[in-house]
Amino acid sequence: MKIEGSTFMQVIKYVFQPHGDERGQLVALEEHKDIPFKIKRVYYMYDTAEGVIRGYHAHKSLEQILVCIHGSCKIRLDNGEEKKIVPLEKPYEGLYVANNMWREMYDFSPDAVLMVLASEIFDEIDYIRDYDEFLEFLKVANYSTDVDGVKK
Ligand code: TYD
Repeated sequence: MKIEGSTFMQVIKYVFQPHGDERGQLVALEEHKDIPFKIKRVYYMYDTAEGVIRGYHAHKSLEQILVCIHGSCKIRLDNGEEKKIVPLEKPYEGLYVANNMWREMYDFSPDAVLMVLASEIFDEIDYIRDYDEFLEFLKVANYSTDVDGVKK
């Protein structure tokens, strides 16, 4: 596994090791080895209708790795100060999405399968689905960082 690219906003893309031979390719993902957290849930999106934008939320504590295992799509990440667009088009690439990060998924190719490895089970309480609420949540999170100097 190799971590590719890092900016001020810390877009972290993982390049997984494909085990290829004459039969084809195989990618294996293990928690705490290829994936930086314990995987509590896997879900995937497919048959996404043309023009659809999914996501429109952030998580208070959940972390994810997004892998477009077939086809392609784009992910818009927004940390409240900066936005980045990350194309996902390789089945051996994973995008790490931290908590406190607004995300939108769009531009799905008709054959796209977007798989998500998540650090938590599904819990609506962990979602922030309103953008203004997201910005308010960040202010509180940044305040607690400023007070004790430790990122939470
Ligand atoms: P939704 O949150 O709208 O997906 P997205 O963030 O991609 O726009 O989820 C769609 C539906 O699926 C919604 O009814 C909740 C349900 N769902 C689960 O039951 N479990 C899950 O792990 C997820 C992600 C969604």
